[in-house]
Amino acid sequence: MDAFNQFSADYRTRVEQSMQQLLPASATIPDRLHQAMRYSALNPGKRTRPLLVYATGMMLGAKSEALDFPAAAVELIHAYSLIHDDLPCMDDDDLRRGLPTCHIKFDEATAVLAGDALQSLAFEVLLKQEQFSSPTIVLNMLSELTSAAGSLGMGGGQAIDLAATGQQLSLEQLETMHSMKTGALIEASVLLGYYASGGAVQSDLEHLKTYSRAIGLAFQIRDDILDIEGETATLGKPQGSDTAAHKATYPSLLGLEGAREHAQKQYQLALDALSKLPYNTELLTLFAQHIIERDR
Ligand code: IPE
Ligand code: IPE
Ligand code: MG
Ligand code: MG
Ligand code: MG
Repeated sequence: MDAFNQFSADYRTRVEQSMQQLLPASATIPDRLHQAMRYSALNPGKRTRPLLVYATGMMLGAKSEALDFPAAAVELIHAYSLIHDDLPCMDDDDLRRGLPTCHIKFDEATAVLAGDALQSLAFEVLLKQEQFSSPTIVLNMLSELTSAAGSLGMGGGQAIDLAATGQQLSLEQLETMHSMKTGALIEASVLLGYYASGGAVQSDLEHLKTYSRAIGLAFQIRDDILDIEGETATLGKPQGSDTAAHKATYPSLLGLEGAREHAQKQYQLALDALSKLPYNTELLTLFAQHIIERDR
């Protein structure tokens, strides 16, 4: 196992254990809602965002214990975004992480509420970070995660995605959409790692922003490519969903090869940013590589 796979396996387990504890128990009333929240959040995801919190924070000297709450918080927001993304009024998908989507397993109203409640829980979890950080740092984290999730971040990107369905976007519009719907939470993951480690060096913040914006965009370009050349069994979600729904994607605008080149360009931008940081950036380098090469 290489260094990235070993790190991923260890810290995936770690964030899953903390989410197990942070999510209300299945028997807690309203039990059906809590079951839906646990089902969607704990089903087997890659945990890319929490892994980025750990990789960034640890690079900057933070202890794992001081990264557990931010890592869980960003994954809870992500879990919420996936539940809503799969709803009939959005992408209308019935498979997620190899299992029925939340609204298929439960029902639509429960899925809407589970998403809402996961979002609130994320912010509650982030508030617990006060045990490790000053109130100013906690406020910086909250400010980052709230705006990344909101109408100028993920939520707004999802709105653009829906409005763009069936339309041809320019490259610039596509980049804006992807940077918002997916890039914002990936950027927030890296920046939460930065803040949790003390967040004192302004030049680190600038380079980490550049790095995370590049890998965030690359992540969604790879997701678009996998919709075409991936396999449902590996992806755990329906291959071909974007094409069937006439979504605006990188391959639909640039072709598969053009999309791959674009992801490669982002990878280079990410590495350039890392080269300016005075730390051991090996793990973040492997992370960027994994993002453009992954098959799920
Ligand atoms: C899927 O995210 C939605 C996108 C933003 C592309 P992931 O590919 O991280 O999904 P999981 O969490 O591993 O299931
Ligand atoms: C989703 O993008 C981005 C989110 C904010 C959830 P997609 O709609 O492409 O994600 P998948 O392919 O369904 O995972
Ligand atoms: Mg979508
Ligand atoms: Mg979708
Ligand atoms: Mg997709």
